[in-house]
Amino acid sequence: MQKNKLLENMKNRNYTALAPMAGITDLPFRITCKRCGADVVYTEMISAKALYYKNEKSIKMLRTTDEECPCVVQLFGSEADVMSSAVESYINNSDFAGIDINMGCPVPKVVKSGEGSALMRTPEKAYDIVRAVKDVSGLPLSVKIRSGWNENEINAVEFSCLMQKAGADLIIVHPRTREQFFSGHSDWSIIKEIKDSIDIPLIASGDITSPETAEDILRLTDADGIMIGRAAMGNPWIFSQIKQYKKDGCYAKPSADEIKQQIKIHLDMALADCIERYAIANMRKHIFWYTKGLPDSNKIRNQISSAESRKEILDILDITS
Ligand SMILES: Cc1cc2nc3c(=O)[nH]c(=O)nc-3n(C[C@H](O)[C@H](O)[C@H](O)COP(=O)(O)O)c2cc1C
Repeated sequence: MQKNKLLENMKNRNYTALAPMAGITDLPFRITCKRCGADVVYTEMISAKALYYKNEKSIKMLRTTDEECPCVVQLFGSEADVMSSAVESYINNSDFAGIDINMGCPVPKVVKSGEGSALMRTPEKAYDIVRAVKDVSGLPLSVKIRSGWNENEINAVEFSCLMQKAGADLIIVHPRTREQFFSGHSDWSIIKEIKDSIDIPLIASGDITSPETAEDILRLTDADGIMIGRAAMGNPWIFSQIKQYKKDGCYAKPSADEIKQQIKIHLDMALADCIERYAIANMRKHIFWYTKGLPDSNKIRNQISSAESRKEILDILDITS
């Protein structure tokens, strides 16, 4: 069921996805974004090697529910046999709608092991990974890449063609180099170049900060869909705002009350997901993002940093339970 929905979304130009974000796109946040209109949501990146060695924390990250359907699981790794084995053991019989392979993570710990964006420097290895996963799984398979390693090694176009040849069903590109990390602006012209060179769908990621920029990137790149990362942090409504803007040319912003109620709903999902101490620690950053721009945001943020229970948080927000 999930699988069909995903493929359907891929065919339409309506594909607005929540980007995979380590430490952020856990189950409660993914459900939040889904309720706010995201067509597809992506998990945080999960180590195939850790799954292979039955790491409990990584296995726990694989939880998914009907409500977030369709959800795509993102895996990272550098060994084709380990990746395909993790897919066979944990993904094929799961409720995930697709598999994404991380070929864009710039973090030193990851690239040192030849994973993430390092794979863009070893295209033959990347090819083998895609082939190996396709050989064992019928799920739609995407590859998420950057523009290249550095400004002298921009290879996103050739790399995407190779991934298509290897069997990828979809390319997702965040067009910054690995060396850029998150600095500067992503180069949307590369997205257009890739789109003109491949036959499979392409999703654009990078610096989509509003419904207006969402329209811009689709118009300028001809991408089949878009993926929102940082702009959804504290503003999951961006997904419904994009839809409304497309339809009506304008969009509503949530009121302070709606924002506070949303925090409560998100907090309760986080509390249902793990023990209170961890849930509150994890929610602090979300509450900081949600409250950005509220008239009493400084006061709320100061108090939230030392809040330790649900009741304290609701009291600070001045909402009843
Ligand atoms: C905190 C953070 C964590 C991220 N984690 C991942 C990840 O696990 N996998 C991945 O492919 N990209 C990851 N990204 C990159 C995003 O998916 C996205 O491509 C990038 O942030 C550009 O989009 P944006 O400008 O909408 O944020 C991460 C980005 C941020 C800010």
